[in-house]
Amino acid sequence: MTKPLWTSADLEKALSAKASAPFAATGVSIDSRAVAPGDLFVALAGPAHDGHAFVADAFAKGAAAAIVHADGDFPGPTIRVADTLAALSALGAAGRARAKKTAVIGVTGSVGKTGTKEMLGTILAAQGATHISLGSHNNHWGVPLTLSRLPQDARFAVQEMGMNHAGELAALTRIARPDVAVITTVGPAHLEYFGTLEAIVEAKCEIFEGLSEKGTAVLNADHPFYGTMETAAIRAGAGNVITFGKAADADLRLIEARVIAMRTEVEAAIGGQEISYSLPFVGGHWAMNSLAALGAAAGAGADLFQAVEALEALTVPEGRGAVSEIPMDGGEFVLIDESYNANPQSMTAAIEALAAVARVRQIYNTGRAIAVLGDMRELGRTEKALHAEIAKTLKTNEIDRLFACGPLMAEAFAAAPIKMQAAKTETSDAAIAALIAEIRPGDVVMVKGSHGMRMDRIVAALKSTVSKA
Ligand SMILES: Nc1ncnc2c1ncn2[C@@H]1O[C@H](COP(=O)(O)OP(=O)(O)O)[C@@H](O)[C@H]1O
Ligand SMILES: [Mg+2]
Repeated sequence: MTKPLWTSADLEKALSAKASAPFAATGVSIDSRAVAPGDLFVALAGPAHDGHAFVADAFAKGAAAAIVHADGDFPGPTIRVADTLAALSALGAAGRARAKKTAVIGVTGSVGKTGTKEMLGTILAAQGATHISLGSHNNHWGVPLTLSRLPQDARFAVQEMGMNHAGELAALTRIARPDVAVITTVGPAHLEYFGTLEAIVEAKCEIFEGLSEKGTAVLNADHPFYGTMETAAIRAGAGNVITFGKAADADLRLIEARVIAMRTEVEAAIGGQEISYSLPFVGGHWAMNSLAALGAAAGAGADLFQAVEALEALTVPEGRGAVSEIPMDGGEFVLIDESYNANPQSMTAAIEALAAVARVRQIYNTGRAIAVLGDMRELGRTEKALHAEIAKTLKTNEIDRLFACGPLMAEAFAAAPIKMQAAKTETSDAAIAALIAEIRPGDVVMVKGSHGMRMDRIVAALKSTVSKA
C-alpha cells in the first residue's frame, strides 16, 4: 500500500478548507490526461482550458480527490477553495515546509537551468533519495506542483525556477524556501521585458529572498555582475557563498575544458585539489554548469568527490546539446541537437561548441562546420542588431556554412560572408531539403533556435532521412 502523500486532514490544515469526505492521495496532478490512480487532482483554470471540466475524467482515472473553486456535481471527494492556483501554491509551500530533513536546492539563470538541475538530480540520487522538478516545471504552477509532490523523507530536492518578469522569482522562492540557491549565469534573455542586463540580474537575485536561514548562494565568479549578486545574497541573509568559474579565487575553479570527439574533458581545482572528469556534453558552458552543480551539491551537504564520480552517469536532456553520429552514403556526419531553445548567450556557446567539435574532427577529415540557426525571440527592440551580431560570432569561430530560418536570423545571414551563406528561409521546414542536399560525410551540423521556431523538426528530418544510407 503506497504511503499517502496527502490526507484530507493534511489538506484541510494546509488550505484552511473543508473536505467533502475523507481521502488519502498518493500523488498530485493538474492534467487529467496524466492522472494516476490515487492522485489529488487540482482543477486549474488556465487561459485555454478550465480543469473543472475534467474533474470527472480525473475521477474516472482513479483520482482520490479534487481541489476545486467552482460548483459542480463531482463524482468524488473534493476540497472547495477560493482559487485553485492559490491553493496549489499553498500546497507547494506546505509540502516544502513539512520536509524538514530535505536539503532544497533552487536553480535559476538565463541559461543552463534545466541542464544543471538534471546534473544535480543524477549526482545527488547516488547519495540519497532525491526529488527533482520535471522537464521545465519552473514557473507559477510548475514550482508548487513539484513541491506538492515532495516526499517527506527525501534527502535532496532540486527545483528549477524561471521568470520572464520582475517579481516572479520572488514569489516562487518564497514557496520553495531553498537552502541552496544557484544562479548559473545571467544574459540578455527576455530582454524585451527588462531593457537592461542589470535589471535582469536584479530580477535573478530575487531567488535569495526565499533563501532559508544562513542558506548558501552558488555564484558564477566570472560574471561581470558577480559583485551585485554576492551583495544581494549576503543582504538576504546567506550564510555562505560558493563560487565557480575560471577566476583564480573561485572555490570550484575551471582550469580547462577540452572538447574531445563528442564529450568534454574537464580539469578543475576544488579546495586546492585538482580533479578531472568527462561530460557527455560538448562545450565549456557545460563544464561551468557542472561546477555549479558540484558547488550546490556541496552546499546541500553531499559528498563532493562521490558527486564528481557520479557525473560519469550523466545523460544529455533532449534538444540541449545531444551529439550523435548519423550514417550516410560514404560515411557519417555529426549532429549537435540544440533545438530546444535559444538566446544570444546560449547561441554563442553552441556556435563555440560546434567550432570545437569540427576542429577536432578536421584533424582526421575535411568535414565542415554547418550552423542551422532559427530566430531568437523575446529580445525586444535590439533584436535585429542582436541577430546581426551572430554573424560576427560565426566568423570568429570560422563556421563554414550558415542556414538561416526566420525573419530575424535573416539579419545574420545578410551580415555573413558570401561563402558562408548557404540558404535563408522563412521557416525551419523550408530549410530541410537544401540542408540534406548540402551535407557531406565528415560534416558537423548544429541546429538551434527559439522553441517557437520548431527547429526540432529539422533534427527529426536529419535523423530519419539522411540515415537511410
Ligand atoms: N552556462 C551556459 N552558458 C551558455 N549557454 C548555456 C549554458 N548552459 C546551457 N546553455 C545553453 O542553453 C540551452 C538551454 O539549456 P537549458 O539547460 O535548457 O537552460 P534553461 O533551462 O535555462 O532554458 C542549451 O541547449 C545550451 O545551448
Ligand atoms: Mg529550462
